[in-house]
Amino acid sequence: MQAVRIHRFGGPEVMQLDQIEQPIPATDEVVIKVFAASVNPVDAKMREGKYPVVTEKDFPYVLGRDVSGEIADAGQSVSSFLMGDEVFAFLTPDHGGYEEFVIAKSDEIATKPHSLDHVQAAAVPLAGITAWQGLFDHGKLEAGQRVLIHGGAGGVGHLAIQFAKASGAWVATTASAADRDFLSGLGADQIIDYKSERFETIVEPVDLVFDLVSGETQDRSFSIIKSGGALISTLSEPNKQRAEAQGIRTGRYTAQPSGAQLQKIAKLIDSGRVKVRVDRTFGLREAAAAQKALQEDHIRGKIVLKVLN
Ligand SMILES: NC(=O)c1ccc[n+]([C@@H]2O[C@H](COP(=O)([O-])OP(=O)(O)OC[C@H]3O[C@@H](n4cnc5c(N)ncnc54)[C@H](OP(=O)(O)O)[C@@H]3O)[C@@H](O)[C@H]2O)c1
Repeated sequence: MQAVRIHRFGGPEVMQLDQIEQPIPATDEVVIKVFAASVNPVDAKMREGKYPVVTEKDFPYVLGRDVSGEIADAGQSVSSFLMGDEVFAFLTPDHGGYEEFVIAKSDEIATKPHSLDHVQAAAVPLAGITAWQGLFDHGKLEAGQRVLIHGGAGGVGHLAIQFAKASGAWVATTASAADRDFLSGLGADQIIDYKSERFETIVEPVDLVFDLVSGETQDRSFSIIKSGGALISTLSEPNKQRAEAQGIRTGRYTAQPSGAQLQKIAKLIDSGRVKVRVDRTFGLREAAAAQKALQEDHIRGKIVLKVLN
């Protein structure tokens, strides 16, 4: 089978399409025949050697963290999925998604949303679980509260806006001006152009800032969080002293695979309350170009690799 692997850290040129053996599942694992795999910012960080979980000991390493496909093989103790079941998954860093068949643990996978094709479904797992855990597990967002989501037009942000709205929250978001119509279509209540406006002078105080941008955007966010509120980031730990002085809760987290949460997300998607935006697709052999596009171009939603047709 084909897999996109790295044999050393570096730029997109270190990714190569290798011919490798199809994996065999352990007793508690399944093999997913991959129809589509999405591209996430973490894939490029791993390729560049900037994500400490992947070291030179892991070479040759298959990139990619989420997939949509069907069960092609299962270990003896797996009873929750049958051969041919359509599934999607956010994988642990032990197994990569840019390949034709991938190993997954049965508790990482969920039944694919019936209303999505494999390309759309592959766009969901990592971004969706990151949004879910940031808003609800760490951010403790509740119905009737106000949330500001930085980076609303990206992979995580466009799902986070819709999850927050579906939970009954009021949602403001920062993005480029060109994304205004896209974001209002997702239900955002207030949209701020981060290039020409200063959100902290426009948005009324919020209960939660969900930060997908970091840097000075995170620093400027403190002033609009209510006492007792929270600032949760996917990227960097917010200033603890400032948080204590202001009486707010802060945190930086790493999203963890969860088949159970993914199944809740699938249900929400099939209810019609959450739309998935795929901006562009590439072939498996074009994975380097896909990562380059995510890093350098303006992408609305997600980029997905079509792996098997
Ligand atoms: N900790 C974790 O477990 C975890 C999980 C997932 C993602 N992440 C991280 O979270 C971040 C977001 O992930 P993603 O997949 O959504 O990335 P993405 O798809 O690349 O989206 C990033 C978005 O941020 C926008 N943006 C850039 N600068 C901005 C600013 N100053 N203000 C407002 N928006 C801005 C971009 O818009 P323009 O194109 O218009 O600039 C883009 O829409 C990434 O850095 C990723 O590495 C961490």
